[in-house]
Amino acid sequence: MKTQTHHPQTFRSVPTHSKPLDSARLEKLLEQQLDLYKTKLLSSGLEYQLAVQNIPLGAHSTFQSFEPYPISIASAKGAWMTDVDGRKMLDLSMGFGSMLVGHLNPEVVSEVRASLDVGTLYTAPSPISRDAAERLCRRFGIEQIRFTNSGTESTMYAVRTARAYTGKEGVVKVEGGYHGSGDALMVSTKPSLEKAGPADSPNSVIGNASVPGESYVVPFNNIQALENVFSKHAKTIACFIVEPVLENIGIVLPDEGYLEAVRSLCDQYKIVLIFDEVKTGLTAGPQGAAQRLGVIPDLICMAKSIGGGIPLAAFGGKAEFMQPVTDGRMPHLGTFNGHIMAMAAVRAVDKVCTPAALEKAESLNIQALTRIREIIDEFELPAHTVGFGVKGCVTWSDKPVRNYRDYKATDFQIAELSFLWSLNHGIMTPPGLDEQWLISLAHDQGEVDFMVNDFKELAKTLRG
Ligand SMILES: Cc1ncc(COP(=O)(O)O)c(C=O)c1O
Repeated sequence: MKTQTHHPQTFRSVPTHSKPLDSARLEKLLEQQLDLYKTKLLSSGLEYQLAVQNIPLGAHSTFQSFEPYPISIASAKGAWMTDVDGRKMLDLSMGFGSMLVGHLNPEVVSEVRASLDVGTLYTAPSPISRDAAERLCRRFGIEQIRFTNSGTESTMYAVRTARAYTGKEGVVKVEGGYHGSGDALMVSTKPSLEKAGPADSPNSVIGNASVPGESYVVPFNNIQALENVFSKHAKTIACFIVEPVLENIGIVLPDEGYLEAVRSLCDQYKIVLIFDEVKTGLTAGPQGAAQRLGVIPDLICMAKSIGGGIPLAAFGGKAEFMQPVTDGRMPHLGTFNGHIMAMAAVRAVDKVCTPAALEKAESLNIQALTRIREIIDEFELPAHTVGFGVKGCVTWSDKPVRNYRDYKATDFQIAELSFLWSLNHGIMTPPGLDEQWLISLAHDQGEVDFMVNDFKELAKTLRG
């Protein structure tokens, strides 16, 4: 069978041979790590007992909650966090990638502090919100932008803008893709395989308690499946929304030519192409994923990395596609839009994320991916490494993952063990088995050595 090559701006290294791991041994190791977690993280356990009385699951986002209880954090600086048990933890989650410039980045702190001297909320235009918009338009190569407060708002408004622009309602998305919790997009985010239907024409599986409207789901990296949906339903489809690199089921890379083919199909069928760059954004490179990968969408959603840790997001694109906002076909509203602290953070992030700074972080990331790949080889682990920009992950499969069904075939038992292992060994990985690490501007050689050495210890333990 011909193996697909991935986009040349992305990284994937799959070993040619591996040996399976013993499942019974993994089960035992998992139990040990769980016991260790409960004995090491006593104050986090206590904090959870208190929190759960007023907060469902003891956390303000269900993504922050996991069994037996999440780690409670007291402070963070640079690439490190301190938990309520006083343990220093290397942060590889970095706020799901939001903390690209590092915790308490001095430039962000200084700009945000300065904003406190002039007021925090005007609910009126201001030179600082104009300046922030100009900076992001310049970077992302777009003509117009509107600020929001979360990625969910941005994807929701982008879809609504596309609906207003086309006068159609239907939304197409990728199976396994997460685009925030707006109703239209809470479809087949991680559907159970019993409900998901055939791999080439998946069912649209509606998330609990959401009302999405007309929705279609396609497998990633399958242009024929997209064409099938477009040719059948183009009359009612407003948009196709996709992450240019999927970053909510590990990292799933676009095959070479896939995004280009998506672009031309959208043009052919007059369907608005939305890139969700909430996760990729500046973590993909100084100008975001679209420009790095060479495929330009009609609308783009941003959040996380552009805000330096302040709640901030945006959507924008070509002026023609933002026209519904201008002419009132799609009212975009929000009391906190353009919040002065957030605008100050945009300015700081824009100053700090120079091509040289991001290049340094990316070369550390490539080093981490390469060294971890060598350990995978040495211990013949059924795993491979994937990376894009300053993000990377270990995928527990000896085959490349090109879509959601491949992802579902990866080994979740090892992924869970690796997750608990890291937390017990002073590394904060993102909650969930499907996230990726981020090498921020605050990570350096010492941090990369720490994470690679920890992976080596895990590999030794896995082989026993
Ligand atoms: C690709 C993608 N889009 C949208 C969102 C939603 O962003 P937020 O959590 O800021 O609402 C997320 C969140 O993780 C995401 O990963």
